[in-house]
Amino acid sequence: MDGNGRWALARGTLRADGHRAGVDAVRVIVRECVRREIGALTLFAFSSENWRRPPDEVLGLMSLFVESLEAEIPELQSNGVRLRFIGERAELDARLRASMASSEQLTAANARLALQVALSYGGRGDILGAARRLALQVERHQLTAAQIDEDTFAAALALAGLPDPDLFIRTGGEQRLSNFLLWNLAYTELYFTECLWPDFDAHAFDAALQHYATRQRRFGLTAEQIEFASVADA
Ligand code: FPP
Repeated sequence: MDGNGRWALARGTLRADGHRAGVDAVRVIVRECVRREIGALTLFAFSSENWRRPPDEVLGLMSLFVESLEAEIPELQSNGVRLRFIGERAELDARLRASMASSEQLTAANARLALQVALSYGGRGDILGAARRLALQVERHQLTAAQIDEDTFAAALALAGLPDPDLFIRTGGEQRLSNFLLWNLAYTELYFTECLWPDFDAHAFDAALQHYATRQRRFGLTAEQIEFASVADA
């Protein structure tokens, strides 16, 4: 969700107002996912590298997360959204951690949309954490090195149990992953748009989905193999 700062700058207002407008865009896109029966959405709200931002901005973002969480729970509940957080919780302040835990508990039984919010998250840290957890199991003789395959590794990552994302959307014009879900994005279709996150609305989301619909997902196979398999399936 990139571009909040530039959106604010273009209006002669504070970056904090851009982040607030970003929360409105989150609400719109979550509703769109529910309406379109999309099963899972993972939002990159704060990276492990974002801690290096000016302390005022970091503090403002943390308060905004607490405030938004508390305000949005009723709508998430009524829309059947299950909310979970990924990232290094220990680095977040106690009030935010408490709101995160209670919103996860409150929405745990919902099943329409699995919504993951990445806070203090980094893809490399996620992979390192998984490697350490598996190494510990090996040290304890609960697992052998030979048993570590893609499935056991994926099950030790933050998005364990969820399918790999079909589509990655980055707003704000930059064309990079910035340490998001590095393992899980191996075969994900990538979509980059100049649209700034606060302007990313149902129409812009539709354009991203239209782009996705034109992609042929080959997962290493040839175009001919894919076409043959779809004729055989039909
Ligand atoms: C990047 O834009 C955006 C962030 C670091 C914050 C994203 C957070 C939100 C949209 C709020 C989401 C809230 C919840 C509850 C999920 P930027 O500041 O880097 O923009 P710039 O590149 O234009 O400066």
